[in-house]
Amino acid sequence: MTKRQRLYEGKAKVIFEGPEAGTLVQYFKDDATAFNAQKKDVIKGKGVLNNYISEHIMTAVGDLGIPNHFIARLNDREQLIRKLEIIPVEVVVRNVAAGSICPRLGLEEGAILNNKLVEFFLKDDSLGDPIVAPEHIFTFGWATPKELEIIVEDTLRINDFLTELFLGIGVRLIDFKLEFGRFYRDQDAADDPVIMLADEISPDNCRLWDAQTNEKMDKDRFRRDLGGLVEAYQEIAQRMGVNIPDLNQ
Ligand code: TMP
Repeated sequence: MTKRQRLYEGKAKVIFEGPEAGTLVQYFKDDATAFNAQKKDVIKGKGVLNNYISEHIMTAVGDLGIPNHFIARLNDREQLIRKLEIIPVEVVVRNVAAGSICPRLGLEEGAILNNKLVEFFLKDDSLGDPIVAPEHIFTFGWATPKELEIIVEDTLRINDFLTELFLGIGVRLIDFKLEFGRFYRDQDAADDPVIMLADEISPDNCRLWDAQTNEKMDKDRFRRDLGGLVEAYQEIAQRMGVNIPDLNQ
């Protein structure tokens, strides 16, 4: 077997070249990081859980008609995905105040926001992913106004859909982060690229609170040293009806 080429290693995933042109393989690691990787650990089984949970959610989002990069899960840790040109903007939707918005604007964690709030952050670890406005996105050419319109529309639809999906299993969707990219159907054609959802949707990039107890069931368990991350992710998977293999093998 020929060795696949490793193209990029991120904090929680590795990207390899795919079996065909225009595809990649996304490998989910057990590494957990927070606060721009100042805090690091390896949490056995996290990668497998995120792979299965993200497969489930990406498939459901695709069924809604929102284009995304997911093609197929290959095994416990890998997905076949479409190769996109990643837009360097992290899109965060907040339904309830938590995380970085609290110290930034002096809010109490758990305060309900009157509106579904969409925020943008520049995807640049060396700058600590600063918050940016649409005007920055257009001025620096990270995305066009038309592209951002599609991104926000998709993001709000995903928020409505996931809010209901999670409420149905007794979980409050507090906030989450999405990434998007451009898919060029035909490299030679002059067609506009298709905007597609990229990355993953898992408890690593969502805040999920139990609807009865408000207990945290997401990566804040690691960020805040609460313990029980794997058990919380397993509980999310089980409530969603996602079968997870034995994590100890
Ligand atoms: P924040 O409150 O830290 O800005 O995070 C908002 C949401 O985005 C939360 O669900 C966690 C997620 N997130 C990521 O997925 N990656 C990141 O690097 C950060 C900072 C947040």
